[in-house]
Amino acid sequence: MSELPPPNTTPAAIVDALKAVAGNPPKVRASFAKGRCVRGTYTQSESAGEITRSPSFTRPSRVLARFSVGGGNLKVADTNNLVLRGFSFRLGDEAHRSDILVESAPVHFARTLDQMLAFLEARIPGADGKPDAEKVKAFSAANPETLNQAHYIAARRLPASFAGTTYWGVHAFPATNAAGETRFIKFKLAPVGGDVTLSEDEARTKSADFLHEDLARKIAAGEVRFNVMALLDRPGDPTLDVTLRWPDEDKREEMRLGTIVITSLEADDACDGSIFNPAHLADGIGHPPDEIFAARRAAYAISLAKRR
Ligand code: HEM
Repeated sequence: MSELPPPNTTPAAIVDALKAVAGNPPKVRASFAKGRCVRGTYTQSESAGEITRSPSFTRPSRVLARFSVGGGNLKVADTNNLVLRGFSFRLGDEAHRSDILVESAPVHFARTLDQMLAFLEARIPGADGKPDAEKVKAFSAANPETLNQAHYIAARRLPASFAGTTYWGVHAFPATNAAGETRFIKFKLAPVGGDVTLSEDEARTKSADFLHEDLARKIAAGEVRFNVMALLDRPGDPTLDVTLRWPDEDKREEMRLGTIVITSLEADDACDGSIFNPAHLADGIGHPPDEIFAARRAAYAISLAKRR
């Protein structure tokens, strides 16, 4: 598992493939294109320092954040239950900034960059605007772990609100505490009121932008609150394979690092002018060791350059 060959695939090739799957719309993010920029606050829990010494997590700060809907298409309907919901947030001050990006599934759709590229290439639409179903089927049969994420989403009802959705950081992050001890954690953003979903009948009554309209209402009512949780590792957890959950992950011991309250909408320019950079992590949270994470910093910068 730890002996993966180095990837042949570059971050640029992944960004090109993400764009191609979405039909190459200009000037938008290669992934999670549709979204809304917001502001809020972070308050640490009393036990945050037991997990990480990162000042981003052990001190209160303002938060810049963005909620989003998956895929590279700005026009995706909020009622589409085949794509992810995303949440990106920036904590800390200038000297101790951390950008954390989480999504509404606990696993990624590929274990390696080569596999990620092949997964995307199989889904690039042809002349009829649709991916080749046979190609997707053959790829899935040969790479069954690439369906773990889709199966997770398909087993759940449509999220009723950005504020009523659980989001995961997916990767295993090495966290170093105040005593200098390091262990792996996974980030989970748990909505304070729990998950809220819609039945298929309810979903049919919703508009294509209903999540965005709901967000504005919930912020005004002070109802957008998330506990920032750290799921704690156990010996032998698969920390390099982002298509796998840890054994019994839902029953893991978890610690609350703090709470994020989203307090206002923000002009989208505040989020669109730069990137939430997964590699920006203040001392106390390290880079996950998997090859997928390693490619993300470059991929996001390439996407930013393309949409400027
Ligand atoms: C495995 C876990 C991953 C998670 C949780 C994740 C999550 C997200 C989120 C939430 C956004 C929206 C950013 C925003 O609001 O501005 C985003 C954007 C993006 N993601 Fe990921 N992502 C993951 C993996 C990857 C990988 C492996 C790649 C490519 C190698 C990638 C490429 C991108 C790109 C190119 C963007 C657009 C960046 C921009 O233009 O600002 N992501 N991702």
